[in-house]
Amino acid sequence: MILKIEGMTMEFGGLRAIDNLSMEIAPGEIMGLIGPNGAGKSTAFNCIAGVYTPTSGRIFFQGENINGKKPWDLCKKGLGRTFQIVKPFASKTVLYNVTVGSFATCKRRSEAEDKALKVLKFLNLDDKKDLLAGNLTIADRKRLEVARALATEPQLLLLDEVMAGLRPSEVDEVVEMIRKIRESGVTILLIEHIMRAIMALSDRVVVIQFGKKIAEGTPDQVANDPNVIKAYLGDDYVVS
Ligand SMILES: Nc1ncnc2c1ncn2[C@@H]1O[C@H](COP(=O)(O)OP(=O)(O)O)[C@@H](O)[C@H]1O
Ligand SMILES: [Mg+2]
Repeated sequence: MILKIEGMTMEFGGLRAIDNLSMEIAPGEIMGLIGPNGAGKSTAFNCIAGVYTPTSGRIFFQGENINGKKPWDLCKKGLGRTFQIVKPFASKTVLYNVTVGSFATCKRRSEAEDKALKVLKFLNLDDKKDLLAGNLTIADRKRLEVARALATEPQLLLLDEVMAGLRPSEVDEVVEMIRKIRESGVTILLIEHIMRAIMALSDRVVVIQFGKKIAEGTPDQVANDPNVIKAYLGDDYVVS
């Protein structure tokens, strides 16, 4: 397993945002993480990526216990992530923003820039490399966020709602982009609200509600799971 989470709990004061969550991701997999707003998805990402140290439980990345490791160290170990709220350096160019990512593994500026250019080409963003990040459309800003994460050369990439706010045709493009990233050998954990995209991409899906895992399985299995339907739509919609 590339990632293994055992009994992870994360409390903020009296609020238990993640409650005894266990899950595993195999190398090469695309795993979807879904659940209603406030379910704890982004908190789970922040625990995995070292932004928060879980209150209890253990996280293993490539067999190594990474509890308490800081985001920068985890990034160097091959754990990349995007943020739900994209925050590029708005007054810097696209290339500059991605080059910041490549410094995770490159020492020299020229080397870092070369790698950034390769990533931009891979994501079909190379024609926009000289634009200021602040002038990009939402769709391109989301792609830039993915490019910045990819430039750190992750083995596991955590994507937090990279399709939110996009038009259907743009969603299709991002779905293709994520497939391509997986084909290049990157394992992916994907938080997404757009169910069509989750269904199209995920090998397996974990569903959380109030920080607890309520279902796990193939996209079809979870979409037909009464607990999942109830979590999203309420009791009235469950046909028993
Ligand atoms: N840094 C924090 N401090 C206090 N509460 C937080 C913090 N981050 C998240 N929460 C709370 O944890 C719960 C889960 O939030 P979040 O992980 O953002 O949910 P999701 O991403 O599934 O919408 C929410 O009730 C949220 O208000
Ligand atoms: Mg979130």
